[in-house]
Amino acid sequence: MKVQRLEPIRTTLKPSNHPYLNGAWTPLHEEVNALDLEVIEGAIPADIDGVYTRNTENQIHQPLGFFHPFDGDGMLHQISFENGRASYRNRFVRTRGFHAEQEANASLWGGLMDRHGVSKRPGFGAHGGLKDSSSTDVIIHAGRAVSTFYQCGEAYLVDPETLDTIGVAHWGPLDGVSAHPKVDERTGELMFFNYSTHAPYMHYGVVDADNKLTTYRPVELPGPRLPHDMAFTENYVILNDFPLFWDPELLKRDVHAVRMHWDKPSRFAIIPRRGDGEIRWFEAAPTFVLHWVNAYEQDDEIILDGYFEEDPAPKKATDALPGYEHLMAYLDEHAFRSKLHRWRFNLKDGATKEQRLDDRVLEFGTINQRVAGRPYRYAYSTKSKPGWFLFSGFVKHDMQTGEWQEVNLEPGRYGSEAPFAPRIGAKDEDDGYLVSFITDENTGTSECILIDCKRFSAGPVARIALPHKLCSGTHACWADRKFIRERRVP
Ligand SMILES: [Fe+2]
Repeated sequence: MKVQRLEPIRTTLKPSNHPYLNGAWTPLHEEVNALDLEVIEGAIPADIDGVYTRNTENQIHQPLGFFHPFDGDGMLHQISFENGRASYRNRFVRTRGFHAEQEANASLWGGLMDRHGVSKRPGFGAHGGLKDSSSTDVIIHAGRAVSTFYQCGEAYLVDPETLDTIGVAHWGPLDGVSAHPKVDERTGELMFFNYSTHAPYMHYGVVDADNKLTTYRPVELPGPRLPHDMAFTENYVILNDFPLFWDPELLKRDVHAVRMHWDKPSRFAIIPRRGDGEIRWFEAAPTFVLHWVNAYEQDDEIILDGYFEEDPAPKKATDALPGYEHLMAYLDEHAFRSKLHRWRFNLKDGATKEQRLDDRVLEFGTINQRVAGRPYRYAYSTKSKPGWFLFSGFVKHDMQTGEWQEVNLEPGRYGSEAPFAPRIGAKDEDDGYLVSFITDENTGTSECILIDCKRFSAGPVARIALPHKLCSGTHACWADRKFIRERRVP
């Protein structure tokens, strides 16, 4: 492996006992290019050609207040596969906040869990006062990587092959862009939403394959909400209004305390994809959903699969380090018990039906993007380590038969969100690989693994060494090189 290290960035972060600044969540500050990655086990497949891109959160400077892992600066990591060879590179997203704090050589913004007034500069997003870290999500649209922040920031465009930050997307509205914009690979369109603390509280937008904003419309809500993800079908998008939101009375005093309102239903907005026409609202049992798996139309129904949380506002963790009880509970999938679930919305009679599909705690689902918004068969979920936001395994579900297979990582090894990379010339939906980065706490190293989805439970068919230990993070995506280059808008 040939490794080229870039000029170091400036950092003032000091050692601490914070559970999310240590171990698999130790921030990485080094930026490198690495060619000819070495194989630890198996072989690099020659039948995929594309890039896996992963966003992680890496705190650079000493926090001004109480650190939450979602405050960390966005860093993109990429492994590129071509002709049976693999290369790796990583770069911080050069956001306005990154540049300002490099210049100041200090934190200028407080975090999610800080009281109002900690930030030294005006902030971004629905929460207000936060740095737009661009650290949550990454997708590929119009030949560019688009990096986004869950509290609604600017959409940062990054070259998906070099990881150089290009700048802010011109189509981003004033209220910003939430994490989880969706791309329909068949049409090249990007669909997005945002949310805010002022009426109408939510908007929906479309950016077409030519990178032009073609739709931007309000989606009126009863008050400020905290939607995190959206879904789409061939003709509709699905947005949500869940009864987990900031306490309206406390919010008037700028206190962002989240409460579950069990007396209110979950509400789903079904919106024509082009944004024209009426919004139809459906109601369902109260819950909160962080992520959807997929959605599609079938006869009179819209089918939506995602992870139903049984306890979206869990009690404090009793076994956490003093002071971290609340933080630990809200990052623990086993505390909010997210389970694979199906909602069916009948467009004829307005009824909703619901069904639990698996009783295990799962989240962060991926699919073959070629069946996004269409009837599909296979879903890939992650398992997590109880008590922690760390991925400990992967489950493949056959959504037709209910059968499943799983891969569990050895203790001390943690994965990243694992999208599906289709094999060149694949005909079957599951003909390809699940790609994930592993952070190994036993060896202090990282690697990339590939699981052959046709032989899922056999475990990784390739383990590829990475040049440094990665910090854990949130989202990742796969894009075929052909898709990147053919869809590229100058
Ligand atoms: Fe997310």
